[in-house]
Amino acid sequence: MALVQARGLTKTFKGKAAVRGLSFDVVPGSVTGFLGPNGAGKSTTMRLMLGLDNGEGVTTYDGVAYRDLREPLRHVGSVLDAKPFHPTRKAVNHLRMLAVSNGIASSRVTEVINVVGLGDVANSKPKTFSLGMGQRLGIAAALLGDPGTLILDEPANGLDPQGVHWLRNMLKSLAGQGRSVFVSSHLLSEMALMADQLVVIGRGSLIASGKMSDFISTSHRNAVVVRVDDPQLLTRELRARNAAVVAEPDGSLAVTGMDSDGVGALAHELGVRVFELSNRQATLEEAFLDATGASEEFRASMGLGSGGSFGGQLTPGGAGSPPGYGPPGYGPPPGYGMPPGYGPPPGYGATQGYDQPQGYAPPQGYGPPPPGYGAPPHAGPQGQAQQSPTTPDDGGSQ
Ligand SMILES: Nc1ncnc2c1ncn2[C@@H]1O[C@H](COP(=O)(O)OP(=O)(O)OP(=O)(O)O)[C@@H](O)[C@H]1O
Ligand SMILES: [Mg+2]
Repeated sequence: MALVQARGLTKTFKGKAAVRGLSFDVVPGSVTGFLGPNGAGKSTTMRLMLGLDNGEGVTTYDGVAYRDLREPLRHVGSVLDAKPFHPTRKAVNHLRMLAVSNGIASSRVTEVINVVGLGDVANSKPKTFSLGMGQRLGIAAALLGDPGTLILDEPANGLDPQGVHWLRNMLKSLAGQGRSVFVSSHLLSEMALMADQLVVIGRGSLIASGKMSDFISTSHRNAVVVRVDDPQLLTRELRARNAAVVAEPDGSLAVTGMDSDGVGALAHELGVRVFELSNRQATLEEAFLDATGASEEFRASMGLGSGGSFGGQLTPGGAGSPPGYGPPGYGPPPGYGMPPGYGPPPGYGATQGYDQPQGYAPPQGYGPPPPGYGAPPHAGPQGQAQQSPTTPDDGGSQ
């Protein structure tokens, strides 16, 4: 396990900033989701964390920079590419090569192949692999050195539903053993199930970091929904008490700035008949769209089209968004910023407010493999080095 601290990560490609002074923590014992629209800088950030891109800033693993780690691949496993292997070298030989070059027992190769459910195709050439099978082989390589930290760039990409389910359980299990798991994904419903911490970026800048529940609580889609016989009167009186009210298409009112007890009591006081009164909890997707300003590129990538809202009232002033992020007119309503204490970790010191794991336990297996892919799960600690499946890339100019 390791407390991963990224500080001041910055990368510029040919004068264009891809990552701007990013600082955040990835804490042991948690799955930390890494979110951001297309082109936000997630992959670049992960490469910077592993020293695979030249850039500014430093990432430490329990206080030690990656370049200063002894046998670094025993500490950090990564998947940054969907197919990080030679197309005609058999899957098992690819892993054997990594194991031998890092002093890892060959028995570990069989273990990780079975863990990722590639037992039936271990002797096949990866050029015949589907995208999801390639992802599994990449994950096998990342697990080979039994690392305390995993950095995975969109590992669910290409996995079938069983594979996504398996991946979620495996990553949660690895985090439960005290490891630090940092994983990017655009599958927000999946991320909501998998991660308990989040780092959210937009256009290379930090938007939020901290607990997922805190992030979701910032969404203006969290509201008290009330349906009454005199919505005009209730709306006027709610606004007089500084609550924000949005008329929903079905005639109900979405109220923020007052809890359901208050709304119910006010309706009673006014003699307004209440037909429905409930609390609406935002989804991670709604909170994400709020926080990232529902950028047009991202809306398009999610099939939301351009223009129009998605049901709620969108007002200027995306609290927490980097300056200039998102089109004008989108963002959380005023007063709905990040919760207190939510945001980038202060300075370069120790992380505050995070639960530390109660010790590090070696892996006991990562949950059931996806059906139809191989033997039952088993993974034992080897404590050996692995070779990164990625290739250093100097990228561009600083
Ligand atoms: N090798 C490169 N040369 C020039 N520009 C690059 C290079 N790699 C990334 N960029 C630019 O840096 C920015 C961030 O890209 P990056 O791939 O890190 O985003 P991302 O958040 O991973 O996006 P996605 O969700 O699409 O994977 C983009 O504007 C991209 O065009
Ligand atoms: Mg990427």
